[in-house]
Amino acid sequence: MARPHIEPFCDRDEQFKKMQLPGFGPGMRYKMLSLDVDSGGCSMTVQLDGGYRRGPGFSWSEMEMIVIEGELQVGERTCRKGHYFFVPAGYAMPAISSSQGCLVLMMYNTGEPSHVESTQHHPQAQVNLYHSVDSYMDLPWAMGNVTKPSVAAGCLIKLLNYNPISHAMTFLYCMTPGYFQDNISYHDCAEESYHLWGTSWMMQFGEVPTGGYFWRPAYINHGSFASEYGCIALGRTDSKLFNHFHYNPWTTPVENADRSAARLYRRDPLLYKWAFSKDHNHPHGPEDFEDTMLRRGDEAGHDNEHKSDGRRHDHWHGHLHHVPGSPHTHADGTTHTHD
Ligand SMILES: [Fe+2]
Repeated sequence: MARPHIEPFCDRDEQFKKMQLPGFGPGMRYKMLSLDVDSGGCSMTVQLDGGYRRGPGFSWSEMEMIVIEGELQVGERTCRKGHYFFVPAGYAMPAISSSQGCLVLMMYNTGEPSHVESTQHHPQAQVNLYHSVDSYMDLPWAMGNVTKPSVAAGCLIKLLNYNPISHAMTFLYCMTPGYFQDNISYHDCAEESYHLWGTSWMMQFGEVPTGGYFWRPAYINHGSFASEYGCIALGRTDSKLFNHFHYNPWTTPVENADRSAARLYRRDPLLYKWAFSKDHNHPHGPEDFEDTMLRRGDEAGHDNEHKSDGRRHDHWHGHLHHVPGSPHTHADGTTHTHD
């Protein structure tokens, strides 16, 4: 998710725009919070006007949604503020409507917003990943120490979605009144937050009020933190969250990334060697054999030629396969020949 650093930002400073993409109908207005211009993935504050109605259907993009204010009718169910949805790409939602209007946070993760009218799921939709919950009423607050080293006591979370492959998370978090954390933090993942209610403060970016938002790429310093009266926010990470804490406000993102690599080197030296060795380093990283290994039944109708035999290798993304004996260049600048 290549989105630029958006911070500080507050959606209350912006005007709504009419949603004009096909499929969404009139009465839907949005404020763009962040946008991946490559994929079209985005996060938006959305106002559905009173009387809004959208027929049943699916999106080509995975999407997440939480009701901020008002009531959203989803099929038979009336969803109030705090109701969260994880909707896989191709999952057909029932008709949605709002008689009095409502404010919703919509996050399209893998492509631009889209809506295809349908009462059937797309045949390739991972329908079992769908879930929804009234996060305010039906989930308890848990300690914020889902990762260690941990945030200071007084930051609590409700986990809403967890991706077991990337370790990406979606969660509610709150800071209790009088919350304070005195160190500076950065992560190896992008971090996103929308303040549903209340104000927190950060040394670098100042106050984040209700409607405050950030999309923060990896390795950017943030903190210390405080919240005088408390706040509740929706947070997301795009991969595994690890808190790199320190007390140097002057470090750059490059220095922070180097420190992360140094920590990996000390903790997992063999993994570091494979991930960073310069003699045969592919820009997408080393192969995960579980993703590429041949499984029984895979042969039928598929490409059997490109098995890893030490000379030719098969990638799951498109790039030219090398002719044995021809020199080629890798992203690290080295040139060499396979024999
Ligand atoms: Fe953070």
